[in-house]
Amino acid sequence: MSVVTITPDQLQTIDISAATLWCRQLEEGNILLFPETPVPLPEADTHFLRTLEQSSSGLHKNLAYKPALDRVSGADMKHADAAAAARLHVILRRYSQDVTGFLTRFLLPYHAQWQLDYASFRPQEERGRDLPLRRRNDLMHTDAFPTRPTHGARILRFFNNLHATRTRDWITGEPFAKLAPQFAPQKIPMPTPPGGVARGVQSLGRALGLGRALPAVKRSAYDSFMMRFHNLLKEDAGYQAHGWREASFFPPGSSWMVYTDMVPHAVLAGQFALEQTFLVAPQAMVAPEHSPLGVLERMSGARLV
Ligand SMILES: [Fe+2]
Repeated sequence: MSVVTITPDQLQTIDISAATLWCRQLEEGNILLFPETPVPLPEADTHFLRTLEQSSSGLHKNLAYKPALDRVSGADMKHADAAAAARLHVILRRYSQDVTGFLTRFLLPYHAQWQLDYASFRPQEERGRDLPLRRRNDLMHTDAFPTRPTHGARILRFFNNLHATRTRDWITGEPFAKLAPQFAPQKIPMPTPPGGVARGVQSLGRALGLGRALPAVKRSAYDSFMMRFHNLLKEDAGYQAHGWREASFFPPGSSWMVYTDMVPHAVLAGQFALEQTFLVAPQAMVAPEHSPLGVLERMSGARLV
């Protein structure tokens, strides 16, 4: 795993061979860093986002933009100041569109083969946040979504550090292909192919006596494994303390992107980040052997989605 720096010069002439190389670098578990973001926000918008918390807008937590619905959701939206909420909506919509426009060119081989997932604004200081263990961002983990199974699609995330002066501080670990065999099948069973597919949160909900309170989520064997793997890494004190890791400091004004389903990561410090997630189809991979799906199918000798 390493951080590959993309210079502004390299963005002048993007052709298919350069774009294919960048896809490959991502798929091999590298982080691509743009020291100067290719998706800048107007200074006034950045200022607005940085000062949301102090304003009485009520908008300061858990803010997600859902492009398919063109809606912002968050715990505080109901109580938010209407003008601030409208402005936030416009900013997040434009950010989502700008990132998509940039990556459509930059990652040309993925063209039309991804699903645009949520964008989010992360206004809180990451150092010292008080969250339940499985939701902590400062513990090493690979990403998996409890309510949005990907069925083998990859989780690609693009970030902007909006802080005026501070870096966003990450640690990252060995990619999935190296990590998975250290945990499976000893600490976590290998995924079982369809037929033994877990029924997801509906059955869990019933088991907990929640009746129909939870919506049906069909997870593939792959998704069930990835969710358990996310939890297992966070809960494994030995891995958290002694697992191989490397620090990265993303400068103010930079962007970076990474396949967060394969690169274990933790955010140790930083404030004010924007993020857009893409779910990239497995058939779009230029190096599918590195993908978690490719690794798990090799290890289990079975098709998992
Ligand atoms: Fe994460």
